Amino acid sequence: MKLAKLALAAGAFALTATAMAQPKPENFVKERKAAFTLLAWYFGPLGAVAKGEKPFNKDDAVRATNFLVPLSKMPWEGFVAGTENVGNTEALPAVWSNTAKFKELAGKLETEMVKLQQTAAAGDAEAFKKQFGAVGGTCKSCHDDFKKK
Ligand code: HEC
Repeated sequence: MKLAKLALAAGAFALTATAMAQPKPENFVKERKAAFTLLAWYFGPLGAVAKGEKPFNKDDAVRATNFLVPLSKMPWEGFVAGTENVGNTEALPAVWSNTAKFKELAGKLETEMVKLQQTAAAGDAEAFKKQFGAVGGTCKSCHDDFKKK
């Protein structure tokens, strides 16, 4: 019984691996949008803390930023060539023509997010609020140049 279950699980994995080998162009768009959606989901509520509308809570900030650090690395692999005008993408062609700038801002997001995680882990409310602004500014500068309004 146990063995049969294992064999089934292995079979399911093999199927998934095959299905994933060649993602369709629209699935790359889904991947990047999903990553951004989750980024906004965990990042957005921290804005109330940054604005002083909600008290800083170390546990909440640590939990959110522990999700945000890996999430900040995820959208980029969805921006493959050939997905410029696929599906309902809001990405501007500049992503593929000004790649150096896009990559620079993507890297900046990752770096600034790690710093946000560090201020959360240190329980430093003031540094956290300040660093929230640095991350938010990075979201904005990329959207200004690379995302449809
Ligand atoms: C390096 C560039 C870049 C950075 C940095 C960036 N974004 Fe984006 N974002 C984009 C692009 C490009 C799109 C459009 C993707 C698409 O529609 O294919 C997008 C789309 C989105 C969307 C819409 C997702 C959807 O379902 O259509 C949200 C929400 C979002 N970003 C939030 C954020 C947040 C929050 C941050 C910062 C924590 C951030 N982004 C940082 C480039 C960036």
